[in-house]
Amino acid sequence: MKVKTLSPHDDAVVAPCEHANDCGGCKMQNLSYAAQLAAKENQVFEVISRLGRFGDSHETYMKRIVGCQSVFGYRNKMEFSFGTKKWIPKSDMDGVLQMDPCRDEFALGLHAPGRFDKILSINKCLLQEDAANKVLAIAQSFCEAHTDELPPYDTFNKSGFLKHLMIRSGREPRTGALQLMVNFVTSHYEPCLLHPLVEKLVASVPEVVSVVNNINSRVGNTSLGEEEHVLYGSSTITECLNGLVFEISANSFFQTNPRQAEVLYELVEAAASLEGKSEEIILDLFCGTGTIGLTLARRVKHVYGFEVVPEAVADAQRNASRNDITNATFIQGDLNKIHKSFGDQFPKPDIVIVDPNRPGLHLDLIKFLLKLRSKRIIYVSCNPATCARDLDYLAHGLPGTNVAGAYKLLTEYGNTGVLGFCQAGCLAEWFKFPKDMARVA
Ligand SMILES: C[S@@+](CC[C@H](N)C(=O)[O-])C[C@H]1O[C@@H](n2cnc3c(N)ncnc32)[C@H](O)[C@@H]1O
Repeated sequence: MKVKTLSPHDDAVVAPCEHANDCGGCKMQNLSYAAQLAAKENQVFEVISRLGRFGDSHETYMKRIVGCQSVFGYRNKMEFSFGTKKWIPKSDMDGVLQMDPCRDEFALGLHAPGRFDKILSINKCLLQEDAANKVLAIAQSFCEAHTDELPPYDTFNKSGFLKHLMIRSGREPRTGALQLMVNFVTSHYEPCLLHPLVEKLVASVPEVVSVVNNINSRVGNTSLGEEEHVLYGSSTITECLNGLVFEISANSFFQTNPRQAEVLYELVEAAASLEGKSEEIILDLFCGTGTIGLTLARRVKHVYGFEVVPEAVADAQRNASRNDITNATFIQGDLNKIHKSFGDQFPKPDIVIVDPNRPGLHLDLIKFLLKLRSKRIIYVSCNPATCARDLDYLAHGLPGTNVAGAYKLLTEYGNTGVLGFCQAGCLAEWFKFPKDMARVA
């Protein structure tokens, strides 16, 4: 707990966001961006060298972190929660200290740090576009004024209607105009309750091209719906990455910083070191809407993508046709439950790209990769710790078994795989690249 600032640290800056001290979203806003990058670079090195057991010779397997051009307004997806317990920031408490500072009031915003039930009311988040903030502010004031018709969900009583407000942004391919998707997640389907708000949003924010309603009747705190209904416009929005157009639906994963995703994909392409003869087979695991595989497809023989979310697979297939790509196959499947026949579904790949979410790779998938001995693995990660663990297994084998490692981090830059990390949630996304991983000869 901070008592008093004697003199500010050289790296301290004034946090631009009014909620920075109370919101769990951007914990490093009061640190200069250069210092954030340095801290993250160091964090990645620590886990790769220690957990991954790759040693202290930093310069032999790490590349420099790649910062992001825009540190605000870059994020294309924000998920806000409705609630009945409004978190009261310390600055608003008039000196009255409470253990659990909250009021029984309507709130729409982000969860107070570490609290699943208390919501810090937010009407402007600097990470998203101005038009998205307009949507948030309208939803705030409208829903607060209509709590009888639109009751926020109460996590204790397990009652209420409004659960989450998700705002996604993209670009229209021809004009580059901003497009917004608004997704109301509710406990049940009763569209007439939402119609007046939808009308107001559409009339006030011309960038809104899609309003959908995901129904989540479960008690858990997730925005993933069991069913989806379109309330206005299209069920998808579009985004352009490196000259390709991608359709995104409400529940599909899409890199949250599109401009930095372009940088990441260029680095992945460089790491793939394609021979230019269109002969390589690429296996794109955890492919989401197919963005990485499709970026490479024009220069390879075939891409096989695997992904668990059916809507994302459908988006990936649509994205391939939309971009006239015919050499890409996307398959729905759970990579945590692969069968012995998994490898029969595609020819032996030359390059495997893995981009798992935070838990990293399942042990059975690691075993598959160790047996596969592809020429190259490109590991893109949002969690350095699980990535370091997986790299350790891939390079040094599985502890307590006789399964040996089959890959190594190469010291030569540019001719084999790259390992990248991108992490959302702080000021901007960031990358840090250990050097390359390839099959042990
Ligand atoms: C970090 S995202 C990467 C998506 C894509 N590569 C991209 O760059 O947009 C991870 C993806 O893995 C998918 N996923 C998570 N668990 C999975 C599993 N067990 N099997 C298959 N896919 C999974 C998620 O739905 C998500 O689309």
